[in-house]
Amino acid sequence: MSGEIPEPVVAVQTVGLSRTFGSTAALLGLDLTVNQGDLFGFIGSNGAGKTTTLRILATFLSPSGGTAKVLGHDVVTDADAVRNVIGYMPDFFGVYKDMEVTEYLDFFGACYRIPGAQREKTVNDVLELVGLREKRGFLIGALSRGMQQRLGLARVLIHDPRLLLLDEPASGLDPRARIEMMAILQELQKMGKTIIISSHILSELQTLCNRVAIIEKGKLIYSGPVQGVRDHTTAGRTIRAKVAGDVESALLLLRTDTRIAAVVQENGFLKITLASPELDGSVVAETLVRGGARLLSLAEDELGLEEVFMRLTRGETQ
Ligand SMILES: Nc1ncnc2c1ncn2[C@@H]1O[C@H](COP(=O)(O)OP(=O)(O)O)[C@@H](O)[C@H]1O
Ligand SMILES: [Mg+2]
Repeated sequence: MSGEIPEPVVAVQTVGLSRTFGSTAALLGLDLTVNQGDLFGFIGSNGAGKTTTLRILATFLSPSGGTAKVLGHDVVTDADAVRNVIGYMPDFFGVYKDMEVTEYLDFFGACYRIPGAQREKTVNDVLELVGLREKRGFLIGALSRGMQQRLGLARVLIHDPRLLLLDEPASGLDPRARIEMMAILQELQKMGKTIIISSHILSELQTLCNRVAIIEKGKLIYSGPVQGVRDHTTAGRTIRAKVAGDVESALLLLRTDTRIAAVVQENGFLKITLASPELDGSVVAETLVRGGARLLSLAEDELGLEEVFMRLTRGETQ
């Protein structure tokens, strides 16, 4: 029907997904939804459970509880169908340094039973996609780290999967290589692929992803657009105020107000943390002016996204 926004089609859905390793609970009832066409950021500190989740989605690891479906196929009961539609790039993968770029891709093409006649074209196509066409005949060992990482991406594209599962593909790359990698991922999204990319750095994926999920200790903390992350913290806003004259009495006024959680002096400003997210800077203005302090300026301190992330996750994992 015209005028209606079509419902997004689900690419990945996990319900109560759990995984334990001995006495360690790596995943504790994870509910995750990724829609088709998403370039989805999967964020969490080290040990949060990102790799475990991606390995389950890639059918390399079985869940201890709950379910996971990839493009409608259950990862346990329908694992072959899942493997056909995904490309999984692990966080650490061995590269065959003494192999040539094309040999390497041809080998994986054969693994996916792409017929010999078609394989050469497929290899050229994926090399073009990741910007490595000029490196066809090179030994893999002679490629830079960024190029090797792009070759890893070419490998997972060889069977034209609809969903890419990329485990920290940008980690250890220099800024230029990282930007190149991100540009390729955007290109792949435009081609209609769904991409899940994990990272332990929220700001790294800030401009890349249309949606993110934040996990901590095997549980979902947030899922939604990147802009929504900031509104999700339970901590109060931070206000920067400047007063003229008697700073000590201004400090005292603020410290005796229960709506204010903390005040410190920083670079000639007062840095004030409000006690709850509903409060705004007017609280500070009111307290100071009523108490007779000379308020010169007042502004909300834009929290860096990384600081928001730290507050959200409280750095509880290793
Ligand atoms: N094969 C394993 N054996 C034992 N413990 C594991 C194994 N894989 C992961 N874990 C544990 O599970 C938790 C989650 O790990 P992981 O999924 O690798 O997190 P992330 O990728 O977010 O850093 C960690 O506590 C980790 O030590
Ligand atoms: Mg990991």
